[in-house]
Amino acid sequence: QFVILKANEDGERIPLTMAETNPEKGTITIIYMVVGKSTALFRDLAVGDGYQDVIGPLGKATHLEKVGKVVCVGGGTGVAVLHPITRALKDIGNDVTCIIGARTKDLLILEEQMKDASHDLRVCTDDGSYGHHGFVTEVLKEILEEGDVKQVVAIGPVPMMKAVSAITKTYDVPTLVSLNPIMVDGTGMCGCCRVSVGGETKFACVDGPEFDAHKVDFEELTNRLTA
Ligand code: FES
Repeated sequence: QFVILKANEDGERIPLTMAETNPEKGTITIIYMVVGKSTALFRDLAVGDGYQDVIGPLGKATHLEKVGKVVCVGGGTGVAVLHPITRALKDIGNDVTCIIGARTKDLLILEEQMKDASHDLRVCTDDGSYGHHGFVTEVLKEILEEGDVKQVVAIGPVPMMKAVSAITKTYDVPTLVSLNPIMVDGTGMCGCCRVSVGGETKFACVDGPEFDAHKVDFEELTNRLTA
C-alpha cells in the first residue's frame, strides 16, 4: 500500500509506497529520491516539522503466497518498495533470490537490508562500478534458465519492469509489477492513474498498484508517463 504526501502549500501531492511500517510505534518509513521541487520540499523539512498532508493507506495490500522459488527484481528506488515484499516472501517460507540494480554504485540502496531479506542477493550496475556489469534482466535470465522459478516480483523503472515481463513471459513464470503512473487524488476519482491491464482500464491507485505484469500494456504506460 502507499501514501500520498504533501510537504506544504507549495508542494504537489506525491504518491510513495511505504518501505516499512511499525504499527506498535505508529510509524511509517518512506524512501524517496529528490528529483524535483516537491521532493526537495520533503528534504527541507527538519526533524519535528510536519507534512501538511499524509493520506493513506491507499491501494490494495500485496497478496503473497508460499510458492517455492521466487525471484525479486528491483531497480533504482524501486528497491525500497521491493524490500518489505522480499522479506515477507522469505518469512512465509519461500526460497528468495533477489537481484537489485542501479545505474551506478552510488545510486544503489538497501544492499545490506536486501541481503538479510533474501537467501541469495545479486547486485548489478549499468556502468559496472559494482557487482555484475549490466542489467538485472541478464542475471534474471540466468536464474530462469536454471529452472523451477515459481514467481517473479519486479519493481523499478518502467523500462526495467517491461523487460522483466517480456523475459518471464517466455518462461511462463507469473510476474507481479508495481506500477507508478501519475496520480492526483489517489482514491479513484480523477482517472489520472489509469492503466490498461488485460484489455481493461484499471486505476492503479485503487485497483493496484500491483498487477500481473503479463497483462499490463507497458507501451501505453510509457506514453502516458512521458505526456
Ligand atoms: Fe485519481 Fe487514481 S489517482 S483515479
